[in-house]
Amino acid sequence: MNSTAFATAHPNIAFIKYWGNRDQALRIPSNSSLSMNLKELETQTRVSFDSTLKEDHLFLNESLESGTSLERVSILLERIRKMAGIDFFARVESENNFPTGTGIASSASAFAALSCAASSAAGLNLSERELSQLARTGSGSASRSIPGGFVEWQAGEDHGSSFAFSIADPDHWDLVDLIVLVSLEHKETGSSQGHQLAETSPLQKIRVEDANRRLEICRKALLERDFQQFAGIVEQDSTLMHSVMMTSNPPLYYWLPETLAVIRAVRSWRKDGLPVCFTIDAGPNVHVLCPAAEAGKVKGKLGALESVNSILECHPGGPAHLLDPEISGV
Ligand code: PMV
Repeated sequence: MNSTAFATAHPNIAFIKYWGNRDQALRIPSNSSLSMNLKELETQTRVSFDSTLKEDHLFLNESLESGTSLERVSILLERIRKMAGIDFFARVESENNFPTGTGIASSASAFAALSCAASSAAGLNLSERELSQLARTGSGSASRSIPGGFVEWQAGEDHGSSFAFSIADPDHWDLVDLIVLVSLEHKETGSSQGHQLAETSPLQKIRVEDANRRLEICRKALLERDFQQFAGIVEQDSTLMHSVMMTSNPPLYYWLPETLAVIRAVRSWRKDGLPVCFTIDAGPNVHVLCPAAEAGKVKGKLGALESVNSILECHPGGPAHLLDPEISGV
């Protein structure tokens, strides 16, 4: 037996962040979160269940993987094999068109594309909600890369109630994420480990208790396309998460001096009337957000900063979906 499927998914940038789990194994998060898919970035993944294989094989950007990344993929495949009642191993080939491990959440698009392709190759016909639940068990933020556009992940309290859904289509608001790369080095502590440290910070409880307030303000600002409201809450939420990171035991410092230089510049431009704000994931790079009409101007200003290595421009993206396995790609 050899059954193949091919899928694509975008990574996403969280405006209200996910940090810390109430159930580590199932990745049930401590708080709900809100994000936008990033159209120009994508992971394409091909999965073939093959009765002649003796174990799962994972190729990431054409290189054969072992260790943790293969283990995480195998755990997800095992879940799918159980659901489908099959026991064949799989060959997984995955390609990103963007640098991995730099604060652009590659695990989000990776596990979203994998869930889509592997469940289809296994003969399952899952709903968007079921795919989001499945992707969540591989990487929490992957649950938000299944639906399209602007997406809310309701924390829930168990596997069935923790999933993501669209709150607005990609064309609702042409918001641009200018991803400012200040470093291409692989981060020291990945988010899976980081989530486990969240509870060691005395600030995590306060961050989580206040999360629904922030989410509601952010959702409203987004639905009303109110950039000023949006900017304030997005920056507060990001900095709260980094405060938890920096006060964990051991502490996690993702920011570099260049990160702070971009933060300071963005804040001063907003003070001068330019609609622009920042958010930062588990890495040193800065996601600079602004309405599309201002993107050219903001990009020009960012490019003039000494701390800026390069900039990726992303617009709101659609949902994860299957591709024709006959077309080229991985
Ligand atoms: O899905 P993970 O385990 O890679 O966690 C993502 C964590 C952040 O990117 C820092 C925040 C978020 O909500 O995406």
